[in-house]
Parts: sequence; structure tokens; C-alpha cells
Amino acid sequence: MFKYYIKTFGCQMNVNDSEFIAGQLEDMGYEVTADINQANIVILNTCCVRKKVEHKIYSMAGKVSQLKLEKPGLIFGICGCLAQKEKENIQKKIPLIDLIFGPSQATSFKVILKQFLLNKERKIINCDNRKQFSLQNIPIKHHSPISAFIQIMKGCNNFCSYCIVPYTRGPEESRPPEEILYEIKKLANSGYKEIFLLGQNVNSYGNDIINHDDFLTLLLKINEIEGIERIRFTTSHPKDFNLDLIKVIKKGKKICEHIHLPMQSGSDNILKKMNRKYDMKQYYQIIKHIRKNIPNASITTDVMVGFPGETEEDFGFTVQAFKDIQFDSAYTFIYSNREKTLASLFNRQISLQIKKERLWKLIELQKDISIKKNQQIIGKTVEILVENISKKGVKHQYWGKTRTNKVVVFLNKCDEYEGNGSLIGKLAYINIQRADAFTLYGELVDVKNR
Ligand code: SAH
Ligand code: SF4
Ligand code: F3S
Repeated sequence: MFKYYIKTFGCQMNVNDSEFIAGQLEDMGYEVTADINQANIVILNTCCVRKKVEHKIYSMAGKVSQLKLEKPGLIFGICGCLAQKEKENIQKKIPLIDLIFGPSQATSFKVILKQFLLNKERKIINCDNRKQFSLQNIPIKHHSPISAFIQIMKGCNNFCSYCIVPYTRGPEESRPPEEILYEIKKLANSGYKEIFLLGQNVNSYGNDIINHDDFLTLLLKINEIEGIERIRFTTSHPKDFNLDLIKVIKKGKKICEHIHLPMQSGSDNILKKMNRKYDMKQYYQIIKHIRKNIPNASITTDVMVGFPGETEEDFGFTVQAFKDIQFDSAYTFIYSNREKTLASLFNRQISLQIKKERLWKLIELQKDISIKKNQQIIGKTVEILVENISKKGVKHQYWGKTRTNKVVVFLNKCDEYEGNGSLIGKLAYINIQRADAFTLYGELVDVKNR
């Protein structure tokens, strides 16, 4: 039996693309392996949002090339955003590469592989980004038996001045709502409980097609699908954040109270240079509306330090925003200069030393806030969707997530659900006893529909 190995870098979009590649491979009779040395085909699904990840990818590609020298029949492919950005460089740096294809071509993987198999002497390179966006009837291997990613749109039109994504994923294109709803109904029928809607800016869903459902209508329609218990989505862009979305989250019982709202910086001056098209007054206003209408909502964010020209004062505004807003958690990044982007031409780039100092300051601050917020839940009973047996292998231990997207590890003292997986996919009620910055710990109290 031929075996495949896929390594995925980057965001959930890429994870979902890898699920399609795996689905097509299995449809062709390949079998997954976790051991790269056993593989007959190795695919690196790549990201290039920051320089650091590129180094990692090229270093791994070097190791795969070495493997290919020892095992000449090995098929080696690189796909995803880095492939889209620099197919020429990849051919130069990794001469043994067989397949190079962009994110839009992940759904055409079968065709690409078949083309290659007809003539193994020739590399197949396909980074055409203009392919019409459809995911209908593409075999998929989901990462979980209960929670599924659904891309509702591809690409991005925003051109934030630091960001490479519009260049790698192309312009925004919404997927027809009928296709999305059909897919979710099918998932619900096969036991899926959670749907995670993906788009670079979900608030602009539907804007590119006349008479198209908007994001709120889509959410409410999904909310009606029987069997689905939870609906999540990411990412919301503050410039398009629709205040009616708050009402929809309140109204739609399955729509989880978690809003990921990337702030990027707390300084109006920097936000302007980033081309984010909102200021902090507007951002604070959205937070105020969320807190007022959905007091138990969790709010998370992405923030970057060291954008060109970021002064101590600008950074101070970001620190102040963290203190004021009290995010549940934050992804914090060091600005990485991406060629092609507008910001790469800006002067007053910040030194790595200063960037690192600012990053650590933010990480420490957010850690304290996350601990404090999580500890407020101690003693309460929360609803979680059980995702799996805890990896640590402790008997009776499972993990899942709250509606607010917090990870809960819990002990189950009742024999009925010994650590044999029978709780997976169920809604369970957990009494929280302990908390750190990233995880809540508790004990099983009850299970819905035992
Ligand atoms: N569409 C989403 C996510 C984009 S990429 C959004 O608009 O938020 C995820 C995160 O990576 C971004 O939110 C940003 O914080 C970070 N990022 C993007 N480009 C970056 C760069 N050049 N350097 C550092 N971080 C970057
Ligand atoms: Fe990048 Fe901005 Fe688009 Fe997000 S909204 S993907 S940060 S350009
Ligand atoms: Fe995602 Fe990285 Fe591409 S964050 S969109 S895989 S550049």
C-alpha cells in the first residue's frame, strides 16, 4: 500500500486545504503515515505570513530532499502560500521537487498527481489562482469526527500594508450559500456537532455576488440545521464588523459566544499606516457593544509589535488597550517584513531587539490577564463539547472546549465513561476547579442526552 505524509504550516485555511489533499490521496488508494521515512509521497503545505516560518519550511524541504536521494521513487510536493509566492525560488533551492501548486489548486490535487504519474521526469507546476472557487464533490478527510472546517470564502481584498495573504490567496470570492448549507447538512447527518466557518474577513461574505446571502443570513440558516450544536467563525475584521452580528449571536442558540477580532495595534497612527481602515475609537465601540449585549462572550485578538515607525508611545497605546479591553487571549507577533507588501517599503524599520522586548512585555501582560479571566470561572459549571481523550493518557481524562473557546481538561470519575472515547462528541457539563492561562481543569457533572 502506498503511503502519504502531509505537513501543514500556517492557518486553519491551510489545515482545511490539507484535509482536501488527504481526502483525494485516500480516494486514490493511498494510506496516511505519521512516519515520513515510510512515505511514498511527502507534501509540505506551506505558509509565508512571516519570514520565520519560511526558514522552517526550507529547512524541512532540505531534509525531504535528502530522503529522496536515498529513496528515488519518493514523490515530493510543496503547495500552499509559499508555493504561490515563490515557485521559481523553490525550483532553484529544491531541485528535487516534483510538484509545486498554489492554494487554489489543492482541490485539483488528483489531476496534478495523475499528470505527474504519467511522466515522472517532468515537474508539475500549477499556481493558477483564477480557478473558480468550489469545494463541491472534492473528497475530504476531516481532522476530527465531530468538528469540521468549512471555507465560506477565499482570498482577501483588504491589502493591509504588512500582509502577504492577498498576494497568495488572491481576491475575495464567496462560496454559494447553497453549497455551504448542503455540505453542513451532510456533515450533520454523519454525526458532526461543530462547524467552524473560515474566511479572511467573514463579515464581507457575499459582497462579491449580487443578491447573495450576507454573513448574518448564512449564520441564521446554519443555526437551523438539525444535529449541529455549535457554530464558530473566524476572522472578523473590525472595519466591517456588523453590530447586528451581536444580535445574531444572541439569537442563534448554536452560535458560540466567541469573537476573534484582530486589533493589530492600539495606536491610531500605526493602524492608519497598516491600512486597517478603523481607529481605536471604533474598535473600543465594538468591544463595548459586545460586552453590553453578550456579557459572557470571550474576545480574542491578533496583535503585532514593531511595525515600521512604531514608537514607544505607539506601543504604549497597544499596552493600554490590552489593559482596558482585557482580552481572553491574544496571538502576538513580531512584525515581519514581507517583500511585495507596501510596508516593506516603509522606512524606520524597528530593530529585532526592540521588537523582542515589546513582544515579551505584551506576552507577560496578556498571560496575567488570561489567568485572571480563567480563574473567574473556578467553581462554575460550564458546557463543553468533548473533543477527545486527553493525550497525556491519564485514565478517565478527556478534553473539550467551552462555547467561549477555552480548552477544558476534565476527569470523569464515573465508570460509564471510562477513558474509552464514549464521551467524544457529547455535550458535557464540567465543574471547573483549577485554571491557568491556557487551560481550565475540572470534573464531569453531567452529560446531555446520556
Ligand atoms: N485575515 C485575518 C488573518 C490574517 S493572518 C485577519 O485579518 O486578521 C493572521 C495574523 O498574522 C494577522 O492577524 C496578523 O496579526 C499576523 N500577520 C500578518 N502579516 C504579518 C507580518 N507581516 N508580520 C507579522 N505578523 C503578521
Ligand atoms: Fe491580511 Fe488584512 Fe487580509 Fe487579514 S484582512 S488577510 S491581515 S490583508
Ligand atoms: Fe494562512 Fe499563512 Fe497563507 S496564515 S493564508 S497559510 S500565508
